[in-house]
Amino acid sequence: MRGRIGSWWSHPKTVALLIWLISAFIFFSLFLMALRNSSDTTSSSSFDSSISNVDRRSKLYDKMARDLDEHGASFLKHGETSQSLSLSDVFTLKDGSVTPVLKPANPPVRANVLYLSTEFSMPIAEKVQDIFNPHFDKAIWFQNSSMYHFSMFHASHHISPIPASKQEVEAEAAAVQAVARTLCPLNIVLDRVILTSTGVLLGCWQVASGTDPITIRAKLRNALPHAPEKQLYDAAILHTSFARLLGPPKASPTELHNASNQLQFFHELVNRLNSQIRGSKAEVSELWYVEEYDVLALALNGRMNVRKFKLGCSRA
Ligand SMILES: *[C@@H]1O[C@H](CO)[C@@H](O)[C@H](O)[C@H]1NC(C)=O
Ligand SMILES: *[C@@H]1O[C@H](CO)[C@@H](O)[C@H](O)[C@H]1NC(C)=O
Repeated sequence: MRGRIGSWWSHPKTVALLIWLISAFIFFSLFLMALRNSSDTTSSSSFDSSISNVDRRSKLYDKMARDLDEHGASFLKHGETSQSLSLSDVFTLKDGSVTPVLKPANPPVRANVLYLSTEFSMPIAEKVQDIFNPHFDKAIWFQNSSMYHFSMFHASHHISPIPASKQEVEAEAAAVQAVARTLCPLNIVLDRVILTSTGVLLGCWQVASGTDPITIRAKLRNALPHAPEKQLYDAAILHTSFARLLGPPKASPTELHNASNQLQFFHELVNRLNSQIRGSKAEVSELWYVEEYDVLALALNGRMNVRKFKLGCSRA
């Protein structure tokens, strides 16, 4: 018996086979581990970065939502827009109705915006009007619902104007079109509506799928090397403006005369709107390169030239 085992062990072919099997096993296990590791790191890192973009936007929106309480309703005393333009410079009352004061932008502002189609904007615009119109006689300006947009990146803005020749504008537009081809349509969800201390009623959106605004802005910066270093908005933000409040609500309820009651009233209106449209879903599939010949032309129905580019990535 012992002799047989001894001879089994000592047989050179068996030893060779055993060594071969052990090394094959070790190699295979290492290979599997490496495979699992690499798929872990790739999937978890893209997962982490999309989580952190969502997180970053949530934190930003939290902060923006506190703005009204922290700074009060500054639009009741000559507010400024997010682009540092005083609202009283932008609107005037003409024959009892609010009219934007269009000022030529020289050089024209060149804005890249994502477009929200009317399929999604109309139902929102209706709710916004239903809730706010009755309380703000003339002191409100509604964003044209055919022009709901998400400001992404400026090739030139009024704070750092970058003049461009006709050819340079064409080259920019072509570069933006090339970027649009690489972007995937965004499925987005309305995270919340907020009212800023400057009186702008904003829809703040989250991204469920598609190319993240952080990536879109990075690609646009890459494609537009002459663009102003300092852009107007946080790289993560995805917002549309719905309306601009220009003055106090209709005076009738005497309780609204003190400031804290007025804030309370604004919060109630915003809450009512949130309860109706928060969670709205939309798909964004166009990037626009817009030359604005008037200051805030997109917001105020001013003169502009729009080039529309479809987002070209077929969904993975
Ligand atoms: C809203 O925008 C559309 C598309 O640009 C335009 O045709 C329409 O005249 C605008 N509405 C107003 C009130 O300016
Ligand atoms: C505003 O009015 C409410 C009650 O109508 C009162 O409780 C509150 O203290 C007032 N605030 C100020 C700042 O006067």
